[in-house]
This record gives sequence, C-alpha cells and structure tokens, in this order.
Amino acid sequence: MNKTELLRLYPTPFYLFDEAAFKDNLARLLAEFRAFWPEYTPAYSFKTNYTPYICALAREGGALAEVVSDMEYSLARKLGFPDREIIYNGPFKGPLSRELLLGGGMLNADSADEVRRLCALAASRPEQSFRLGLRINLDIGAGFVSRFGMEVDSREMRDALCAIEACPNLTVSGLHCHIKAPRDPESWYRRSEVMIAAADRYIDGVPEYFSLGSGMVSGRYDQTAEEWASFKPSWHDFAEALFAPFAARYGGSGPRPRIFTEPGRALITRFVSLFARVDSIKAVQDRVLATTDGSSQNMGEMCTMARVPVKRYPCGAEETYYDRLDIMGYTCLEQDVMCPAYIGPMAVGDIVEFPNVGGYSLVYKPQFMIPQCAMYALLPDGGVRTLMRAETFDDIFSRFTRN
Ligand SMILES: Cc1ncc(COP(=O)(O)O)c(C=O)c1O
Repeated sequence: MNKTELLRLYPTPFYLFDEAAFKDNLARLLAEFRAFWPEYTPAYSFKTNYTPYICALAREGGALAEVVSDMEYSLARKLGFPDREIIYNGPFKGPLSRELLLGGGMLNADSADEVRRLCALAASRPEQSFRLGLRINLDIGAGFVSRFGMEVDSREMRDALCAIEACPNLTVSGLHCHIKAPRDPESWYRRSEVMIAAADRYIDGVPEYFSLGSGMVSGRYDQTAEEWASFKPSWHDFAEALFAPFAARYGGSGPRPRIFTEPGRALITRFVSLFARVDSIKAVQDRVLATTDGSSQNMGEMCTMARVPVKRYPCGAEETYYDRLDIMGYTCLEQDVMCPAYIGPMAVGDIVEFPNVGGYSLVYKPQFMIPQCAMYALLPDGGVRTLMRAETFDDIFSRFTRN
C-alpha cells in the first residue's frame, strides 16, 4: 500500500513507521561497525521510542536493549531480551535493577551512593559473584558540565572504588559514558581515548565491555533516505574514528573487550512520520495560520531542533499558494507551531506529513486536551499493521477517582 492509499483508509492524525527502512539502517550500522570491531553490538535506547514492535525488531536485527527505568526494563524482559542482553543505565534506577544484576545483566552505576547500595546487595548474597559497570562523567570540551556519571580521579569515584574494594564478590567489569554533543567522529575518537584511559586506571586487565552511549545522528534532520545514504559523516566515518583508539590499545592477539553504542535517534528518528489534516486556514494581521488535527506535542523535539520539512498530500478543494503559512497544532497554546513559514500551496482538507519524528516524540506526548493518536507500520510486504491504537478518553479519565 502506498501512502496515498493509506491516507484514504486511515483517519488522521497518526504516526507511520517505515519498517523496511528501519531494518535496513540497523543492518548497515551493524555491518559497518563490525567490519572494524567484530565484538561490537548496538544497544537500542528504549526511551527514545519504546514502541514494543520496534524494540522487538531491534532485537531481531541484532541489537541489545539499553534501558534507564524499570518501565523499560520490564518491557525488555517481556519482549524476550534475557538479562545478559540488557544494559541498565541512568541516574535513578528502580528496584527491578537488582533483578537485572542478579540475572547477570549489565548495570552501569552513576554515583557512589548507588555503588554502596549494590555492594550491600552483593554482601547479602556472598555465594554469588556480581559484576558492575561505572559511568564515567565525560568532559570532552562540549561546553557544559554533564550531571551524569563520576569524574575520573574525583572524590565520588574514590568513594565508589573504596566500597567495591571492600566487597569481595563484586568486580568492575565495564565502563559506560554518554554525552549528547558534540556529534562528530572526532569527538567520538576523543571519547574512546578517555574511556580507555579510565579503564587502564580502574580495571585490571582487559575490561569485559565498554558501553559508549550515543550521539551519532548528525547533520540536518530533514534528510530523505537517499540523502542520508550518502551523508557525511556516515556510519563508516563514525566507526573508523571510534574504534581506532581501541584497535591501538586492544588490537593484538589477546582478549578484546565487547564494545556497545546505545543509539536512539540514529535508529528511529528518520523512520517515523506524523500525518495531520488541515482543519482551517485564516489570516490574523500579517500572519496566515493553518490549524491541523495534529500538534507539535505529537512531534516532540523535532519542533525545537530545526525547521521541519513538510510533505503535502492534496486532498482538499480550493488550494492557495502561500509564501508564509504557519502550520499550527490543535492545542490552545500559542507556541503550538508544527512548521513556521511554510511556503507552497495548501487547502483545507489537505494532509501534511511531518517526517523524522521517531525520536523523543510519542514518549513525550502529554495528555493535554486530546489523547494520543494511533501508530501504524508500513510493512516490507506493503501491508499495514497497527502498532498503537489511539488513546481513548477512558484511558485518560479512568485512572482518576471522584471522591
Ligand atoms: C545513556 C544514554 N544512552 C543512549 C541515549 C540515546 O541517545 P540518542 O537518542 O542521541 O541516540 C541517551 C539519550 O539521552 C542516553 O542518556
């Protein structure tokens, strides 16, 4: 089914996921990275878009699960990820993180307080061996102080290591880091160097793993799939940069660490679009505004990052050419702008597609005014599958009590 047929059959607004393109992108990531480091595995960042069908596809495509809450951890388990295929990160972990640790999963501690609690857990099970990762706070000249992890050589890190030293059945087996910017290959090279230096300082021998976080999508967000395929920096450029320090340090004949990255945006952002219908068009002073049945609240961070590309499907009647049309959402918020200053024809009844809304969109949708819309997948065989039904009024109000 093509998109135009789909628009005839499914009422707006809705999200549409492109399964074939998602799978292809993940397969390319794996191939490019494993060519440099066969012990590499991506861990899909569930929080970016935790649609269960997509998380399951990530697993089928060879990814582990990267989770930062008990909610995501329990989803990963439900989808069949065993503990050893789950990386649990984040500054605030729920009680289920203990299950992951007991089950042999990878848990990266963010603070000395967290380490002390894990030591207490290990002390209560002296017959079992535990392994733990430490999150390293990165300062790679990004111009801000990250709140995550522990600084190398800091008091916080010393306290954590002291607690671990006093706990004979707990060892540090891996290191983790994540920083959201900058997102270029050179900074990934530096990230790897910092992490290797930290491992040399804190881990005896070769670490079991490095989990390097994410931050790989670069360039503009309005690329088509074709532009992306030839976009620089490519997966290859990132892989070349990030694995070079590892090859220099661990490239001999001895044991090699497993290396993970934790892509979120880079795996999902480009493969979900939002479709919305134009409900009215009006002028106010020198502004012309089209109001739709979607909202910037369905689109998440896309609306704050760049001018969003818009694709129009003419379904309305009398179209007019606009040289400055603000496409607005349904809410009563002045700032609900889905696309400012659109240039082109538009008519009431037209459908507009906002691509690149897969990351940090539906997971951020507030229950403000109108419930969440449905999500469909365009399947590789041309079929359509419902991934999420539209939220109902009852879904929202049934959780409240009246007295
Ligand atoms: C620990 C960790 N890993 C992975 C990610 C995913 O990053 P991105 O969506 O930029 O790929 C994040 C995002 O904040 C994160 O905090």
